[in-house]
Amino acid sequence: MKSHNYVHGYSDREQERLLDQANTLAELLHHDTFYPAGSNVLEAGCGVGAQTIILAQKSPEAHFTSVDISPVSLGTARTSIEQRGLLNVKFCAADVFHLPFEPDSFDHVFVCFLLEHLRKPLEALKRLKMVLRSGGTITVIEGDHGSAYFYPESKFAQQAIDCLVKVQSDMGGNAFIGRQLYPLIKQAGFRDVRVTPRQVYADSSRPEWVNGFTKNTFNAMVEGAKEQALKNGMADLKSWEQGIADLHAAAGENGTFNYTFFKGIAVK
Ligand SMILES: C[S@@+](CC[C@H](N)C(=O)[O-])C[C@H]1O[C@@H](n2cnc3c(N)ncnc32)[C@H](O)[C@@H]1O
Repeated sequence: MKSHNYVHGYSDREQERLLDQANTLAELLHHDTFYPAGSNVLEAGCGVGAQTIILAQKSPEAHFTSVDISPVSLGTARTSIEQRGLLNVKFCAADVFHLPFEPDSFDHVFVCFLLEHLRKPLEALKRLKMVLRSGGTITVIEGDHGSAYFYPESKFAQQAIDCLVKVQSDMGGNAFIGRQLYPLIKQAGFRDVRVTPRQVYADSSRPEWVNGFTKNTFNAMVEGAKEQALKNGMADLKSWEQGIADLHAAAGENGTFNYTFFKGIAVK
């Protein structure tokens, strides 16, 4: 299966970024995710397995089927799971729009940072609903780059973030999807939809958040858009570099950084 061409790409640095992101955010995003013994859970868009590790460790008696369109990422995910001795995950190369499963195959579905990269997120949710049994739950976690605000303020830093948003949208994605989770999940036909915001706040008194989130997750993600942003004339090199320097200032001694994720849970 051919890998999907998605905004953050599949480089080693991006794989590290996804792992940093998952580890730093584990408690904030997953403290209330637990699947009962014996339940079958589909994880769609598992990537390099950053969330898979957390899910499989937190629910050791549930059975996970983790799929992704990228065989390379799946290979990395499989190795990570094996290295940790986790036996409750199997992997499968699959496109979320053409899932190779019978209707009603799963008790739960889990999706994290996938919808933001899809041209048709609503259609993806409908496809996932088909393979979920009646009464089963779906959990969807997405970010929203419009929720990023920081100190010191900088129009160059904001411009760099806007470049990432534009690059993602040019590739068919939506970096503002977090705010849309509630209507999307409802329109897909799920009931009892409940969305909760999960706010990140980082200042230098919380170095784990500054390093794990501001620097290694958010800033690294923006920096990854450099080539496309410059190539497409969204920014010139000088203002881009100023923007990145200013984003790093927000991760400095007197800087602060805020970002909100959204987690939706609903029932079929
Ligand atoms: C940002 S990564 C998130 C990975 C993982 N969920 C995490 O949180 O670390 C998005 C993943 O979605 C995958 N993806 C993109 N389009 C897909 C599709 N149509 N079907 C399945 N996976 C897809 C990409 O290959 C990539 O691994």
